Amino acid sequence: MTRARHLPPLGAFPDVRPRRLRRHAWTRRLVAEHCLKPADLVLPVFVLDGEARSEAVDSMPGVHRLTIDRLLPLAERCLAAGLPAIALFPVTPPALKTEDAAEAWNGDNLVCRAIRALKARLPDLGLIGDVALDPYTTHGQDGLVADGQVLNDSTLGALARQAVCLAGAGCDIVAPSDMMDGRIGVVRRALDEAGHPETLVVSYAAKYASAFYGPFRDAVGSAATLGRADKKTYQMDPANGEEALREVALDVKEGADMVMVKPGLPYLDVIRRVKDAFALPTLAYHVSGEYAMIKAAAQQGWLDGDACMRECLLAFKRAGADAILTYAALETAEALCREAAAGG
Ligand code: PBG
Repeated sequence: MTRARHLPPLGAFPDVRPRRLRRHAWTRRLVAEHCLKPADLVLPVFVLDGEARSEAVDSMPGVHRLTIDRLLPLAERCLAAGLPAIALFPVTPPALKTEDAAEAWNGDNLVCRAIRALKARLPDLGLIGDVALDPYTTHGQDGLVADGQVLNDSTLGALARQAVCLAGAGCDIVAPSDMMDGRIGVVRRALDEAGHPETLVVSYAAKYASAFYGPFRDAVGSAATLGRADKKTYQMDPANGEEALREVALDVKEGADMVMVKPGLPYLDVIRRVKDAFALPTLAYHVSGEYAMIKAAAQQGWLDGDACMRECLLAFKRAGADAILTYAALETAEALCREAAAGG
């Protein structure tokens, strides 16, 4: 159909006024393309040895390391707020760290005890256990080290033992975060052979060598063990995007059920590319440094912390993430519940 010559072409101002759809809160809600819900959020937690202790993590305002007895009520709140899962990170007592990370596959280690306690009390809350050796090594690297090199193939057996140990304690999802080559296949086979064919594997498939992990390393104590060393021989170079697709392809072939991109906001392009290329459940990790930036600015009164947090989490959904690991998961889910109750 052609329009009379004196009229502007269809699809242009003033026929089209995009602002009409933004006029009211209800029109904005009606046409919103994405929404954040509690089921999209996973809370990472730091588990402390001992009893009745809680330690604030200075570089992560609002985050505490908790002993198992203190973790249980927090986990209960997570379940009540609709979070599907939490991710556990142990703060290993320094005396238990060794060159060979043997504490990683001690079935009675801190994270295994936490998993058993949580599963007994809250069987419907999903538990994600990290598979990497850094909480257990004296040098703070995710793999075994010899002659100053982080060894790939000899680390794989250790990761497999660690994963089987987590699954045996009742962990629902094991999450290799170490970036060794070939670890997803090795972990998958070890789980199957040990009688855990239902245990899920989420691969930290595209994990970058990022400076945004700083506060996390303070929280778990690996900043001290790692010292001035870095993880650039196994974590990815931030300059690379295509390489993330190759990493994901390998992990999918090796049996990953879900894949993760980490960190989050500086890598939204990678999340979108991974989601488009593989159409698999894709998780994003909004890491410690990203959380700390918002909280620190909010403490100064420089940003509206809650609004900025919400905007960032929504950005992950827009980029294609199915779920987001974030230290703001519980506060956000509780706020979403309040808003839903208020009809918003
Ligand atoms: C280590 C691990 C790290 C994080 C999760 N697992 C840090 C690292 O690679 O040194 C970082 C998470 C965060 O910064 O929130 N396997």
